[in-house]
Amino acid sequence: MSSNVTATPRGLEGVVAAQTKLSHVDGQNGVLIVAGYSIEELAAHATFEQAAHLLWRGHLPSKDELAKLSAEMVEQRELSAVTLEVIRAAAKAPPIDMLRMACATLSLGLRDPNSITPEADFAAAMRLAAAFPTIVAAQSRIAKGEKVLAPRKDLSLAANFLYMVHGREPDPAAAHALDAYWVTVMDHGMNASTFAARVIASTRSDMVSAVTGALGALKGPLHGGAPGPVLDMLLEIKTADRADAWIRNELAQGRRIMGFGHRVYKVRDPRAEVLSRVAEKMQGAKLENRGLFELARSVEQTALKVLAEVKPGRNLRTNVEFYTALVLQAVGLQPEQFVAMFACGRVAGWAAHVIEQHKEDHLIRPQSEYIGPKASRIGS
Ligand code: COA
Repeated sequence: MSSNVTATPRGLEGVVAAQTKLSHVDGQNGVLIVAGYSIEELAAHATFEQAAHLLWRGHLPSKDELAKLSAEMVEQRELSAVTLEVIRAAAKAPPIDMLRMACATLSLGLRDPNSITPEADFAAAMRLAAAFPTIVAAQSRIAKGEKVLAPRKDLSLAANFLYMVHGREPDPAAAHALDAYWVTVMDHGMNASTFAARVIASTRSDMVSAVTGALGALKGPLHGGAPGPVLDMLLEIKTADRADAWIRNELAQGRRIMGFGHRVYKVRDPRAEVLSRVAEKMQGAKLENRGLFELARSVEQTALKVLAEVKPGRNLRTNVEFYTALVLQAVGLQPEQFVAMFACGRVAGWAAHVIEQHKEDHLIRPQSEYIGPKASRIGS
């Protein structure tokens, strides 16, 4: 290794890659602060639009600011014919892939898609956050052979999304649960997709490019792709008494238990607690789903016990994805849609990081340690 290069930990573990005012993850104490507020406080009291304003503008909106942002975002919900064409072409693709393809088309409607001024970034952020739910809903209708519904202007972002998916105005409890979910996952330190977005933005590339790249990073099961498998796991386990053997068998096969473990949290992910309360309320409202919630609670305890025994010292605790699965299932969504739903919340955080990175205006360009041969010859 050359003398000016220091070896970095695998996966950049422990490396500080940026300074940010957006969020702070305290993995030892299980605390998440988003722009000054604890995640418990924010999820309980702020809507998606309020939390997005907090991240994009640095403060919670006044009444007038909120009215302005909400009105502007409502106008941005509708999709262009080009975006709809891409959604139709990708109707059978996993929703997160379809969203990545459709997201790329959103630059077409922007006044100045390559501008990285704060105002151009705010305009792009609003467009992306407002259009993502319409895109996901449109695909779900097309995939079922149903007519795509135009977004309604009189409903909140979450309520309008559920209306567009199910074709009827949602139960306010469902809309509230989805809104709280989106706020809960909106930002989370230097996670992989956020880092990807910041790397792209650091080249002075635009918001839509950065968010499109972030979607690619979110898709993997080690990041955002876990809640679908969590639900599959619960459905396969079926009854609490089967959990211990099922989990032991998975671990014996060398597989991971989805919804557990985290690179930063060594205690329970605080978002798991927030979402477990949201899920509990939802499941309480829908009595037929109560059983799944009870099963999840029990499987969680069994998994923690078995993981501590089989993987001692790894501190594998419940992460955000475990209860995400229950919240999203309770509002009538399919497991294959879960990653795309995560993206509909996280897009506000990605956009905020792009805004912050554009202000910082410094290229992120680490080095690598070459471990290949140095003097190979071509020919004899
Ligand atoms: N189930 C079983 N074992 C797990 C595990 C899980 N969910 N998560 C980590 N481990 C084990 C690894 O197998 C490894 O064991 P080893 O030391 O015997 O080889 C050890 O714990 C450390 O794993 P590592 O991959 O180095 O940790 P990480 O910090 O990179 O992992 C995650 C973080 C999130 C990628 C990992 O915990 C995981 O894959 N979880 C499941 C997927 C998930 O829920 N993702 C959503 C994250 S919010």
